[in-house]
Amino acid sequence: MSYKTEGNPLTNIHPYVHLKELIFQLLHDWYRIHQRDLPWRHTRDPYLIWLSEIILQQTRVNQGLPYYQQFTDNFPSVQAFAEADENEILRLWQGLGYYSRARNMLKTAREVVKEHNGAFPADFEALKKLKGIGDYTASAIASFAFKLPAPVVDGNVFRFLSRLLGIDTDISSGGARKSFTEIARQLMPSDQPDIFNQAIMEFGALQCKPVAPDCEGCPFSLICYANKHNLQTVLPVKTKKTKVRLRHLNYIVLMRGDEIAMHKRTGKDVWNGLFEFILAETSHSIDTWDDFPDTLHDLKYFQKKGITSIPSEMITHQLSHQKLLIRFWPVSVPKNSRIELPEGFAFYPVSEIEHLPKPVAINNYLKKDFF
Ligand code: ADE
Repeated sequence: MSYKTEGNPLTNIHPYVHLKELIFQLLHDWYRIHQRDLPWRHTRDPYLIWLSEIILQQTRVNQGLPYYQQFTDNFPSVQAFAEADENEILRLWQGLGYYSRARNMLKTAREVVKEHNGAFPADFEALKKLKGIGDYTASAIASFAFKLPAPVVDGNVFRFLSRLLGIDTDISSGGARKSFTEIARQLMPSDQPDIFNQAIMEFGALQCKPVAPDCEGCPFSLICYANKHNLQTVLPVKTKKTKVRLRHLNYIVLMRGDEIAMHKRTGKDVWNGLFEFILAETSHSIDTWDDFPDTLHDLKYFQKKGITSIPSEMITHQLSHQKLLIRFWPVSVPKNSRIELPEGFAFYPVSEIEHLPKPVAINNYLKKDFF
């Protein structure tokens, strides 16, 4: 009998072990030894799993852990979460970015309580219908909480599978997620989808790393396509680079006694729902008050009164699709000044501002002198 050695590795049968079983065995053995002890791995509560997965879509495990702890301390159940105030959620989320995610979480929690009797549905399609839950999160909840055979596909999974099996599909292309999901589905053991998903993500994070993967100590080194052909830096293939937009934000920190003028941001832009100072966004960086746009009517007031201020250093804040260059222009007016603020703005006492949700750059600025 002869065995096929070329072609799709998934359809090749090893003389002794089916490739699918071999891959899971190697993954599982590795995971038993190397897995990190993470709190969401000790629970089957779909609420806690949902919470952890949404946090981990925003940040790495180490940075995400204190957020997870804070959220679970404050809101131990989906019912408690659903009763929260939006500002409370945004304040706890502060620093994670992509704040519409946090606001969607509140909608999801309320939907689970109202429409599903407080229990996340044990069904992939029903999970996906919930606000802010896509393929990835639905698969994570379905497999970790309910042991349903739903493969998770994140950056780690793309990387591991493309290197192991020599798949050169562009992972930024439209159909990539679907095809990788199908491959993961074929490799997933039906009785342990939870371990398979945790192990594959952990393996991608710790061993099959984006830069300098540890191929020498890798249990897959003998069967890995990328290792055999020295393609670790080529796979996975990703052609589309994210375009980064440059923005210049000039904040007027208008202080009146121990109050500062702020408002809650609205609209479909970054930091929606967070509190900020009076903003003048410009197309280029500005260094003097004269460069401010005329449209800022408050400025007329400051200029008329001869009030000037020295701007802060420029702060750079990198988001996934935007680079923000931020400068603060502090202005102090006497305690009893009557000032007409732009619509939606009000003077907030510093003691209250400390507890409002704010962009990290603003929080850091205030922390230096006020909190
Ligand atoms: N990244 C995303 N989900 C994860 C999980 N459950 N454990 C560790 N890292 C993760």
